[in-house]
Amino acid sequence: MPNHIIIHNKIKSFNKKIKVSSDKSISIRSILLASQAVGISKISNLLESEDVINTLKTIKKLGINYTKDNNTYRIEGFGLNGFNLKKKTTINAGNSGTLARLILGMLVKSKFKVKLIGDKSLSKRDFSRVINPLKLFGANIKSKNNLLPIEILGSDFLRPINYHENIGSAQVKSCLILAGLNTPGKTIIRSKISRNHTELMLNFLKYPIKIKRKKKFDKIEVEGLNQFRSFKYNVPGDISSAAFFIVLTLLSKKSNILIENVNVNPSRAGIINILNNMGANIKLRNTKIYNGEKISNISVRSNQKLKSVNCSPLHNTSAIDEFLIIFLVAAKAKGVSKFKNLGEMNKKESKRLDIAVKFLKLIGIKVKRFNDDISIYGNPSLELSSSFEIKNFLKDHRIFFLSTIAALTLGGKWKIHDKDSINTSFPSFLDKLKSMGAKIN
Ligand code: S3P
Repeated sequence: MPNHIIIHNKIKSFNKKIKVSSDKSISIRSILLASQAVGISKISNLLESEDVINTLKTIKKLGINYTKDNNTYRIEGFGLNGFNLKKKTTINAGNSGTLARLILGMLVKSKFKVKLIGDKSLSKRDFSRVINPLKLFGANIKSKNNLLPIEILGSDFLRPINYHENIGSAQVKSCLILAGLNTPGKTIIRSKISRNHTELMLNFLKYPIKIKRKKKFDKIEVEGLNQFRSFKYNVPGDISSAAFFIVLTLLSKKSNILIENVNVNPSRAGIINILNNMGANIKLRNTKIYNGEKISNISVRSNQKLKSVNCSPLHNTSAIDEFLIIFLVAAKAKGVSKFKNLGEMNKKESKRLDIAVKFLKLIGIKVKRFNDDISIYGNPSLELSSSFEIKNFLKDHRIFFLSTIAALTLGGKWKIHDKDSINTSFPSFLDKLKSMGAKIN
C-alpha cells in the first residue's frame, strides 16, 4: 500500500452528523494519572492513536498493568511512588511531546535511571523548558544540548519549587504539576494561561491543588505526596481533530455538519472564537459540564462571506494547534488577516509556522512574515487547478490534515505523502472523509 494519497476532486456538498476521534491531551493525562492512582481506573473512549498507545506502553514499562474490555481500559495503579521498574528502562515517546514532557515530571522520584527517546521529529525538539525547572526540584537529568535522549534518575532529596512558567506551555505546566505531586511540600507555579486539563482532572480527583486565576497567569499550588483514588473517565472528542471538519464545512458549498460530543474547554476553543470573528457563525449546542470539562455538539454551515481577522495574541495558547487550518480560512477570507507572536508554532512536531508560510505561497496566497508575525492576504475567489505535491514535513499529522482539507475545498490535483502520520492523533481521518463523500485514493 502506498504511503500517500491522491485527491483530484473537491468534496461535494454534504449534510452530516459525525463524531471525531477522542481528545489526545485528555487520553494521555487520564492514563498517566491512573498509573499513579490507588486502585483500578476505568477509562472509556480512549483515543487509540500512536501517541496514546505509546503512553500505555510507557506505563507498562514502569510496572503498571492494563487490560482492555470492550471500549474500556482498566489500569491498575499503586499510588504515588508505586512504579515498579527494572534497572535499565528505556521509554520511547515516539512522536509525542506531551508524553515525553509529562512523564519526566512523574519520574522525579524514580529509583532507577530511565532513558527517554523519541522519533526523528521529537528528537529535534527542545527540552530545556522542562529540564531546567526539573533540576530545581533536585531531579538528576542528563541530556546533550537539551535534546533526546534524556536520562533521568529520581532523588530522595526533592524540594518543592516556586516557578514562573512564561511560555504558555501546558506541557511544561503539567510536567511541573506532576513533579509537584511526587515531591514533599507545596509546589507553586505561576503559569501563563494554557490548556488546563491536568488541573481539572486533579480537581475532579479531589487532589489538594489550588488554582487562582490572575489577569495574565494562573497561580497553581500543589501539595505533594497525597495519594488519590482510582477513577472512571469517559474521554470526549478532540477539538483539534474537529477543527479540520469545521473548516472543511465552512469552505465547502451548501454543506452542514454537526460534530457531536467535543471538548470545548475555553482553554482549547480559540478556533471557534477566531472563526466566529471572521463571520463563521459556529454554534455550540447541548453544552454540558463533565468532570470540569465543557462538552458540546458543534454545528457549522458553509460560508462564502468570510472576512479577515486581526487575531489577538490572547487566543494564541487556546488555538495553538489550530492555526495551520485557521490560516486556510484566512486564505479564502476577504481582506488581510494578521496573527502575532506565533513562534511557538515552530516548536511543534515540525516547524509549522515556516511550513505554513511556504504552503500558503504554494497555493498562490500572498503572505508577509516579520519574525513570528504573519499577514495573510485573503482571496475569496481562490480556486486551484494545477498540481501540488506535499512532502518532507517530518510526518507532522496536522500538516497532512491541512493539505487534505485544502485539496478537498480548493480543487487542484494533489499528491500528499506520509499518510501514516494520521495515526499520531486521528487514525480514522481518511475513512471519515470518505464516508462524507470525499474521493481519496
Ligand atoms: C499539549 C499542549 C500543547 C499542544 C500539544 C498538546 C498538551 O503544547 O501544542 O499538541 O496536551 O499539553 P504546549 O503546551 O507545549 O504549547
